[in-house]
Amino acid sequence: MAAPKFVGEVEWPVTIQLGKGLEGAITCHSRIGYVDGEKGWLVYRGYNIFDLAEHSTYEETAYLLLFGKLPTQKELDDFKGKLLGYRKIPQEVIDTLKSLPKDCHPMAALRTGISVLGCKDTKADEVTVENDTEIAIKLISQMATVAAAIARIRKGQEPVEPDPSLDHTANFLYMALGEKPNDLMIKVMDISMILHADHGMNASTFTCMVVNSSLSDLYSSVCAGVGSLKGPLHGGANERALAEMLPLKDEEEAVEYVRDAIAKKKKIMGFGHRVYKAYDPRAKVLGKYSQEVTERMGMPHLFKIARKVEEEVIAAYGERGIFPNVDFYSGTIYYALGIEVPLFTPIFAVSRVAGWVARVLEYLPENRIFRPRAVYVGDMEKEYVPIDQR
Ligand code: SDX
Repeated sequence: MAAPKFVGEVEWPVTIQLGKGLEGAITCHSRIGYVDGEKGWLVYRGYNIFDLAEHSTYEETAYLLLFGKLPTQKELDDFKGKLLGYRKIPQEVIDTLKSLPKDCHPMAALRTGISVLGCKDTKADEVTVENDTEIAIKLISQMATVAAAIARIRKGQEPVEPDPSLDHTANFLYMALGEKPNDLMIKVMDISMILHADHGMNASTFTCMVVNSSLSDLYSSVCAGVGSLKGPLHGGANERALAEMLPLKDEEEAVEYVRDAIAKKKKIMGFGHRVYKAYDPRAKVLGKYSQEVTERMGMPHLFKIARKVEEEVIAAYGERGIFPNVDFYSGTIYYALGIEVPLFTPIFAVSRVAGWVARVLEYLPENRIFRPRAVYVGDMEKEYVPIDQR
């Protein structure tokens, strides 16, 4: 069988070797982003993630993902103006969020909030590239407001109105935390948002594409993406990774934690990846900022413990290609910035929505409904037995 080809055009139908969990499968051609799992590279629209993390902003990166080019100043100003114009969410969304049980997971609340946004949009079902592009921009803007409102409401506080003087990420932090973030917080969160914005055909992106391929509305597709991202094998790992590290008092306990997990054959959260068999480049950047932020916020022990966990996991599993992924260090950063653990995955979603909508929009003009098959291994010729005879 031919090896799967992930760069350059393929001729449909393509012959590939498939693994469980659709490993090796190809969904479509894309110009949006590329993950090289052997080299540990991540590229958005041709630009290396290290360059984008260093020089770009989340708004510029979202524009790049959506429209395929770096914006001119005027294009960026217009895009930011649109995001700003959409920030405020309908009162019905806030009322619905307030009606949810206080202990419901913020990702479930986010999914619900997006659903209400869709119900309120009279043009939600007009599935055209033009209309969905507008909804895409709306979602990038409003998911931040919904997630921030959830952060407040679950603590019994009133949502904070958006501040038009702040950029997207700074305004998100302001609305979520209820106070103006400092420069370090804004910078590090913006970098994290850039790093999380897109990542090939991951489970949540694929979920959005599958839903949209039936020509359903973009809100439904993004709701489904949030549901997929919530799981601990995907975006939910950032919460779990930190929750498992917080009780560790020192590096000795970090070693014990890893050795115990290995002995019990437990998956260690924040490690391993379907595509990366080298170090996840996003974890490289986040690891660096984790050290800086935890030190600046007076929590250097948290980084030391995380580093020790990493060293131990790599010593045991590095040869098998298991390294930290994006979800390992992000939590240490958010925690040091004073963000509550249940909000970690919603933050991932607030960023990833750019990749979700970009990929859905790219596929729309050449849409073909996704419809794989399962291998049936059940019975074939059973005789129907009436209920009173069973
Ligand atoms: C994200 O796909 C994306 O791009 C996702 C993402 C994105 O940006 O969208 O990068 C974000 O989801 C990051 C991943 C977050 N999840 C976790 O950190 C949870 C822990 N990691 C894993 O469960 C696992 O590594 C996955 C889910 C990430 C990948 O799953 P695969 O490709 O199905 O790998 P696998 O479960 O088949 O594991 C292969 C082998 C197994 O050993 P063997 O049975 O072959 O002996 O590697 C081992 C696994 O046991 N393994 C691990 C491990 N991850 C894999 N062993 C211990 N700890 C781990 N974390």
